[in-house]
Amino acid sequence: MAISYSMCWEDPLVLLQSLDISKEDNVLSIVSGGENILAILLKEPKKIIGIDIKKEQIYLTKLKIAAIKNLEFNEFVRFIGFKTSKNRIQIFETIKKYIEKEEVEYWEKNLDIIKNGLIHCGKFEKYLSKFRNYCLPLIISKERINEFLLLNSLDQQKEFYLKYWNNWKFRFLFKLFFSRKGLESGRDKEYFKYSSKGKVSNYYLERVKHGLTEVPIQTNLFMHYILTGKIPVPFKDHPYLDESNFDKLKDSINKNKIEFVKLDIYEFIKKSKEKSFSKFNLSDVFEVKTQEEYKDILKEIKRVAKTKSKICYWNNLVNRSEHQVEGVMQNKKLSEELYKKDRVHFYSRFIIENVN
Ligand SMILES: C[S@@+](CC[C@H](N)C(=O)[O-])C[C@H]1O[C@@H](n2cnc3c(N)ncnc32)[C@H](O)[C@@H]1O
Repeated sequence: MAISYSMCWEDPLVLLQSLDISKEDNVLSIVSGGENILAILLKEPKKIIGIDIKKEQIYLTKLKIAAIKNLEFNEFVRFIGFKTSKNRIQIFETIKKYIEKEEVEYWEKNLDIIKNGLIHCGKFEKYLSKFRNYCLPLIISKERINEFLLLNSLDQQKEFYLKYWNNWKFRFLFKLFFSRKGLESGRDKEYFKYSSKGKVSNYYLERVKHGLTEVPIQTNLFMHYILTGKIPVPFKDHPYLDESNFDKLKDSINKNKIEFVKLDIYEFIKKSKEKSFSKFNLSDVFEVKTQEEYKDILKEIKRVAKTKSKICYWNNLVNRSEHQVEGVMQNKKLSEELYKKDRVHFYSRFIIENVN
């Protein structure tokens, strides 16, 4: 199976503010591209279980971790693909002894991924690169995009949007590219099965307007990546692109607090003991779960959660926000507050639940 996401498309600042990780916490977190596992690790919890249904997401995250552990900041940034490099394969040869045999075998069969830079290998990131290379140039020039990336107020962004984005070409091509049909080659088909949005393309057009006009572009690493395929390095508050985090990250990795599990999260929670975890990052896994399954997972979480635990998750196209599971209470005020701050524009909701 291919890698779905080569970076995590969920805002680590929103995640950290919602879960408020402390040294006593045992955290259960979806892995995805691994960035949010590392953001959690920087808060020094007792233990993290990183879970993903796809082994490739775990392989990717473990290779990023091996690279952080063994490379200097600039070497790491080049290896992972945020800057150019000619010797990624040689670097891989030096760090492969720090990953498992089956992972080495996987990467040796997929050396092109390493050669092109890990950060660009996901199905989703490849879809974005098609948008950037074939569609975006028909809408706006590279020079204008560079101007946009330098704006430093929302008023300027709004003015720019009206002047250069908001035209029929942008609306037409964007809706064509980010239609359900188009997106099915960038995200797994099952993510559309329970969609509650009428026309997916209309929904995403509304959200991208929000992303371009209401999220300060200077802080928006996600929009930088969508528009340019890069994130400026160093980047403040990013778990590993913020150079000031790098030594702490290396130290934290050396404490071996992360354990990876390849399994469906529901299956894992069902076989976990009572009071095993205090914080849960569920990404947007409920996109592919029915309303009944959503409630069942929350009930099982209640069973394995310590008192005063917190759960966070996102909704994208699917509405999974009402459940009435006893002992699991949504913190609506904080959920809405954090949703407004979310730098990833495409979600429809962010939810934080308190477990008592
Ligand atoms: C849910 S996806 C979403 C990524 C991103 N939020 C998006 O929508 O573009 C993040 C990760 O969750 C994993 N995943 C999905 N459903 C899962 C499940 N039931 N149990 C464990 N992992 C799951 C996927 O393999 C993927 O690596």
